[in-house]
Amino acid sequence: MDGAFENFKEQVRSAADIVEVISSYVPLKKRGQNFWGCCPFHGEKTPSFAVNPGKNMFYCFGCHEGGDIFKFIMKIEGCGFMDAMKLLAGRYGIPVPEKQRTAAEIEQEKQRERIYQTNGTAAKFFQACLLKTAYGQSALAYLAGRGITKEIIDSFSIGYAVNSFGALVTSLGKRGYGAQELEAAGLAAKGKSGFYDKFRNRVMIPIKDPKGRIVGFGGRVLDNSTPKYLNTSETAWFNKRRLLFGMDIAYKAIRSSRQAIIVEGYMDAISLHAAGIGNVVASMGTAFAQEQAALLKRMADETVFCYDSDSAGRRASVRAVSIAREAGLKVRIAGVPEGKDPDEFVRHHGKEAFMQVIAAAQEGVDFQIEETILQGDVTNLAGKVDVVSNILPFLLECKSEIEAAEHIRRLAQRLTIDEGLIAEEYRKAAKKGGAKNEPVNVRLPQRKQANAGQQAEELLLAVLLEQPLLAYECLETVGRTGFSTPQLAQIFDKLCELQAKDAFTVDKLNDALEDAAQSALAGIRTRQIPSGDANKLLADYLRQLQRSYWEREYEKHRLLADEYERSSDERFMDELVETQRIKDEIKKLYGNYK
Ligand code: UTP
Ligand code: MN
Repeated sequence: MDGAFENFKEQVRSAADIVEVISSYVPLKKRGQNFWGCCPFHGEKTPSFAVNPGKNMFYCFGCHEGGDIFKFIMKIEGCGFMDAMKLLAGRYGIPVPEKQRTAAEIEQEKQRERIYQTNGTAAKFFQACLLKTAYGQSALAYLAGRGITKEIIDSFSIGYAVNSFGALVTSLGKRGYGAQELEAAGLAAKGKSGFYDKFRNRVMIPIKDPKGRIVGFGGRVLDNSTPKYLNTSETAWFNKRRLLFGMDIAYKAIRSSRQAIIVEGYMDAISLHAAGIGNVVASMGTAFAQEQAALLKRMADETVFCYDSDSAGRRASVRAVSIAREAGLKVRIAGVPEGKDPDEFVRHHGKEAFMQVIAAAQEGVDFQIEETILQGDVTNLAGKVDVVSNILPFLLECKSEIEAAEHIRRLAQRLTIDEGLIAEEYRKAAKKGGAKNEPVNVRLPQRKQANAGQQAEELLLAVLLEQPLLAYECLETVGRTGFSTPQLAQIFDKLCELQAKDAFTVDKLNDALEDAAQSALAGIRTRQIPSGDANKLLADYLRQLQRSYWEREYEKHRLLADEYERSSDERFMDELVETQRIKDEIKKLYGNYK
């Protein structure tokens, strides 16, 4: 980030009045130092959402969302950091500095603009062919037969590419679009005798980016010939992994409902919108991608996948659950009955029936488990063991052990095998996978209500925010014990980093943090530091840190001992001795233990 940009950011930050900005989204009432309202990020009736003008931050005591004004705008508008800044800059009349762009960047930007223009003009041409020429008759009849009305044709800018090799090239040529430009947009290709139209005799469905610019097309045949759809080929501008069909018209409904319904096909999305269901996008037949999940995470909390119920669709759903969960989204899977796709279903049964299908959608991991059971053979023990090992990866993706334990309990009932056995397999797998991803003890249940240990960690950080110099005093202990959550650890690390550069401010710290850590930081800043000598407080908290560390260690070795005992492994004794040693250590340090 260059200086001009930093400067601009600080200008916006100091001009923006956090209370004023947030009150334009949420009614706030002053009580004490804070302004209070009902949290816009989770449903609630009694206000637990606080805005603190002095500290320039917001924090929800209910859902623990929190951060600075930029974070608030990003969350509520579902936009990125730059857009949040521009929005605020606009509001306070601060000029946005022109970004210094290289000649290559400017050229690229121009090309991209030109491709949008080419596509836009082509879409108009296709639509005129559909609606205003005799050539469009068959396509119009086909669309009408599928329940696509004139309004839908308009709102999705649907058109028709006539059955000719030169209609588009010639017609757009007259409007000043060279054949090379059409080629760059993926609308024409070069053959032996010059350029020719790539889409012929197809219903043309424009694919738009979230801003409504046409980035590509899907062209459908009017009969059963193949390929059913021809799509714009992938280029730097057109990448299906980053796009969701329908996002341009769905994003408002997704943002306000915090839920996105994801279907496979163009036609599914079109028909659901036509039926008045606004929060629908289509993944366009390709596997649901991380990029798409990240895009959705900015505007929704939950995704409901409503893929085809054939085996390919179900397999795609199993993978989609993992990808959406990894992005931090809640996931459910809806199954359209009678082997129909959402398009057919909603046209036959209407909006209400489809909304019931969505309401009845199954929780993502439950679906993965059920699906794996269906694929396996659970009539004998060997088959069941196989099924369990296929399910383990899904359990390992659970955010907490409590969640995993709940699934394990139900799975045991479902397969009529011992819960302990599955739990043991799970722990083994967690340990193996743990080396690759994160240590097993990180997966210990994260309690909603911070326990004593975590409270001390937060208070310790609260003291350091006031007196960052004291961070050095903590380095040694913290180096040994760590923090109990990765977010708190990140806050401490970044604080030390900034302090070492003599550049610590709370704002800078906030900017250096990932999303979840920003929320944790806002939580810490709401903590009241007890009065007293900071050094003494710090010493107390460090002692607590040490203690939580030993308790985590104790828990780790106790689990290991359990596991070795179960499998009659003689290392069991070593672990028992170790747990005893830790117990003694705790007694020595703190007087008593449990
Ligand atoms: P579907 O076959 O389910 O398409 O493929 P659909 O939208 O329901 O089409 P209709 O109802 O038969 O007209 C799902 C999606 O997979 C992509 C398209 O994005 C399609 O919407 N697809 C499918 C292709 O890109 N090419 C194909 O040949 C088939
Ligand atoms: Mn279909």
